[in-house]
Amino acid sequence: KAGLLYFGAATDTPGFRERAPYPQSYAQYDAILADPDEFGQTTPTNGQKWLFTEPQPALFNFTEGDYVANLANRTGKMLRCHALVWHSQLAPWVETTEWTPETLTEAITRHIRAVAGYYRGRCYAWDVVNEALDEDGTYRKSVFYNVLGEEYLKLAFRVAAEVDPAAKLYYNDYGIERPASVKTAGAKRLVKMLKDAGVRIDGVGMQAHLHADNHPTEDDLVETNRGYAELVDEVAYTELDVRIKTPVDEQKLKWQSECYEKVVGACVRTKKCVGITVWDFYDPFSWVPDVFPGNGASLLWFEDFSKHPAYDGMVRKF
Ligand code: XIL
Repeated sequence: KAGLLYFGAATDTPGFRERAPYPQSYAQYDAILADPDEFGQTTPTNGQKWLFTEPQPALFNFTEGDYVANLANRTGKMLRCHALVWHSQLAPWVETTEWTPETLTEAITRHIRAVAGYYRGRCYAWDVVNEALDEDGTYRKSVFYNVLGEEYLKLAFRVAAEVDPAAKLYYNDYGIERPASVKTAGAKRLVKMLKDAGVRIDGVGMQAHLHADNHPTEDDLVETNRGYAELVDEVAYTELDVRIKTPVDEQKLKWQSECYEKVVGACVRTKKCVGITVWDFYDPFSWVPDVFPGNGASLLWFEDFSKHPAYDGMVRKF
């Protein structure tokens, strides 16, 4: 569509969808998700994270990740894979072990070899490192950074490139969608650091967890994209949602639609913007109300399966 490779929706394994409002919802939900006219790509919202893939040292489990990978295969969708190295939803043992730089290097290498190796050839892209930056644009003091410094970033991308050479390798983060933000500057520094070290990085993923009542302009989004496009081959909106402060009303839904439209417009206007993924599509399965109380209705389908105004708004922009 309009030069993009895909428009997709992330999804979770059914076990995680505990807030489903009524029994038919799964069937209706599954039908929308499977429909190639709605989504040409998917991402597992949880199943490929360290917590699920290596819950104990060297004990690997792909049950959760496979659910979405197999669904992608069955429904003919591209698969974005998420995420190899991230400080959150990390298996507890990674944070309690007393590491030396050598032993943590081994653990990261083993993790990426096993996980990216298992999915080799099936991932259009991998979020190799997720959220390595703090709000001020400096490196987040994760266990990885504390033990290895920025070497862990080089290591992760090098091992991923070795294991799955065909996958596009992404740095992914939130709050890096606006041109003037210190975090955007940090993301560019991070990418340059990798490139200066001779490490391959193919893309920057902007999560784009946005707010209906305070969202960037389309020109700002385009400017940000162009900044990354000078450094990498691809950019993508990887986890798009637009939260509304509850209660929902028509005005807020209009702002939300404008925000979704701007993201589509910015991607369409940026040659290297390959695609957009919404972070699920059905409000009851969104992570937003759990993590940001007082916010909700951030996706494209309401609980009763009617569509948000943003759905038609986006369609017009493609
Ligand atoms: C979220 C999931 O959607 C939730 O189900 C889970 O409880 C927490 O993580 N940035 C990311 C995603 O990169 O992996 C996060 O996903 C949302 C923020």
